[in-house]
Amino acid sequence: MNQFNQLYSRRNTASVKWDLMEKIYSIPDASKIIPMWVADMDFAAPSSVTEAIQKRLEFPLYGYTFENDDCSHAVTTWLKRRHDWMVSNDSVMYHQGVVPAISTIIEALSNEADEILVNSPVYPPFFNIPKKLDRTVLYSPFIENKGVYTFDFYHFEQQLARPEVKIFILCHPHNPAGIVWSAEVLQKIDELCFANNVIIISDEIHSDLVLGDTKHIPLAKISQHPENIITCVAPTKTFNLAGVQAAMMISSDKKKRQLLQNTLAKHGQMGLNTFAIAAVQGAFSEQGEQWLDELIPYLQKNVDYVIDTITTAVPSIHIQKPDATYLVWLDIRDTGYAEKEIMQKLLNAGVALDPGTKYGKAYEGFLRMNIACPHATLVEAVSRFLTAFN
Ligand SMILES: Cc1ncc(COP(=O)(O)O)c(C=O)c1O
Repeated sequence: MNQFNQLYSRRNTASVKWDLMEKIYSIPDASKIIPMWVADMDFAAPSSVTEAIQKRLEFPLYGYTFENDDCSHAVTTWLKRRHDWMVSNDSVMYHQGVVPAISTIIEALSNEADEILVNSPVYPPFFNIPKKLDRTVLYSPFIENKGVYTFDFYHFEQQLARPEVKIFILCHPHNPAGIVWSAEVLQKIDELCFANNVIIISDEIHSDLVLGDTKHIPLAKISQHPENIITCVAPTKTFNLAGVQAAMMISSDKKKRQLLQNTLAKHGQMGLNTFAIAAVQGAFSEQGEQWLDELIPYLQKNVDYVIDTITTAVPSIHIQKPDATYLVWLDIRDTGYAEKEIMQKLLNAGVALDPGTKYGKAYEGFLRMNIACPHATLVEAVSRFLTAFN
């Protein structure tokens, strides 16, 4: 049996995806609902991760630990092998997650009156975190042409020219649209941000989940100004380790690293915990890579199934195939449903998706579906999805 066909019951395991639906959707009972919302997979992590944690558990002293050279070596070797990106161990800093890393970077490299630029639609913490830090958020919406999003470089440049803009947060690959940005687009972003003295945070957490032939190119790898970029990566999306919590901030600029270090110290941040250090090495390993090489075709199959089944049954739903991620962005505007109505119908039918407006006010008429589950679960979930639209 394909390992990803294995069904696990995740209810009552303190799983955000499975056990928080009542709270998230304000419903009394979600015990029959299949979750297709938060980006977390219903697959067991690679055995190399479990074994690495188990091995660490066998030594029952859990005092303070730090990310030693073995840990950094696992990270930098992975980046070289998977993305042909040479990163020195010194350039890697650690945090519990990419979201807290983004918060730290904003706090360290901008001030309260400053503006932070993001695209839209985009992963919600990109605009929620800066707001919580009392920064003003500016948006650069994508241009949409028949469901394909592209950068509106004219508008982007106008926004960048504002002296208050200090940081641009790039989602690469993009959540929710699954776009892997091309070298040409990345070069333009690099050039424009540098010319306008705007630092780039490049969130590349989904970079190991490229589904098609497109290649992920780390922005800092091809940048003419790599010192202007802080890249965030993590093994947590790729290997389903979000609950373990581990992320990396990569910067080739010593001065920026010092500023980040100061902000981390201000909050008493200690980096990764003992088990996360073991998990990182278990994940970024040859066995982890083999597991990933088996995961990708499974996700591709799930994506194809969702697109074929839904667009055949409901031709007014439009879906652009994602280049990366296990997230599918559905354009349901032509069905005429209001967001509130269809969200309720979906919950009544037994499936929970993310509403489009979570990713930006203008995205009423879109839904985000997480397809990272055993195929049998997906088939049932898609059938329920179609019930809601009939
Ligand atoms: C683009 C992006 N960045 C960051 C995260 C979350 O990262 P973390 O759990 O490491 O905070 C997600 C989760 O879905 C994401 O899609």
